[in-house]
Amino acid sequence: MIVVSGIQPTGNLHLGNYLGAIRNWVKMQDEIDADGRCLFFLADLHAISQPHDPAELRTGTLEMAAALVACGLDPSRCVLFNQAQVPAHAELQWLLMGTARMGWLNRMTQWKDKAGKNREGQSAALFSYPVLQAADVLLYQTTHVPVGEDQKQHLELARDIAQKFNNDFASEDEPVFTLPDPFIPPAAARIMSLRDGSKKMSKSDPSEMSRIALADDADTMAQKVKKAKTDPEPLPSEVEGLSDRPEALNLVTIYAALANTTPEDVLAQHGGAGFGQFKPALAEVLVETLGPIRNRFVDLKDDREQLDAILARGAAQARELGTPTLDAAYQALGL
Ligand code: ADP
Ligand code: NA
Repeated sequence: MIVVSGIQPTGNLHLGNYLGAIRNWVKMQDEIDADGRCLFFLADLHAISQPHDPAELRTGTLEMAAALVACGLDPSRCVLFNQAQVPAHAELQWLLMGTARMGWLNRMTQWKDKAGKNREGQSAALFSYPVLQAADVLLYQTTHVPVGEDQKQHLELARDIAQKFNNDFASEDEPVFTLPDPFIPPAAARIMSLRDGSKKMSKSDPSEMSRIALADDADTMAQKVKKAKTDPEPLPSEVEGLSDRPEALNLVTIYAALANTTPEDVLAQHGGAGFGQFKPALAEVLVETLGPIRNRFVDLKDDREQLDAILARGAAQARELGTPTLDAAYQALGL
């Protein structure tokens, strides 16, 4: 089993990123590395398909790498790298561009959504980045790709490209590419703003109080929980009682995710409590679980030397793992 997954190199990481994305990777590593190999990459090449700030991309990439390691990704158990340091991703994309059809790319719903009515004004990279995604996985003979609903179509495209390439350029008994299967990752929590239960917690929210940042110290975390918007009712003892109380539901969801339990269990324990009681309990769980991660993150994110070393090592491993497939693709094409 070979699993490959990429993440956008965002900076200003928050509790939503941790519970909704990063922690899932750590779970995947823990489940898969026993009988296979995990490759995790920071999708910095993808980031240039839309307007971006180069300085922010650089710090975002390093911050995301630091967060992944601080949260428990172990660079000795998985291959952790950023795309830009493994030129084979961009090379293989170009080789696959000869196989991908314009019509296939035109049908991608993400392209249609992101381009909207202004297709002519989009970068060619935005149109063709599903081919880079295909290269990302086909380069490593990946067998399984964790995909959410929104990425299923792109994985189908990768399979179509692999199949057509194998048909057109390889012999049946020696295909160049493995067709990857989808793999449903563990369900992730969706965390809402602490100031407005109808909005997702996000780095782009102008209010700092709306999110717990991964870099917040214990006092700041506790303060933000204390100030979180709530209603005057005590907690119910059943989850159904939270159906029209989005802020209360969000705090219970956060508690359950951090304590690795269910909202049902949280309410079994805290039902009947008012927020004057529940918020300090939540702050305690938050500081207990996120505190050690926060400390590792803050140390590592400014340790440029160590981060560079981690990413360089991962890139060297990835280059080695990808070379046979890249060579085979060149060869098959007569290059
Ligand atoms: P933001 O919304 O802060 O800009 P991104 O869009 O950069 O976050 O998301 C990075 C990753 O974190 C994605 O995998 C996304 O699904 C996850 N994520 C972001 N915000 C949340 C949230 N509030 N709850 C759960 N997951 C989230
Ligand atoms: Na976003």
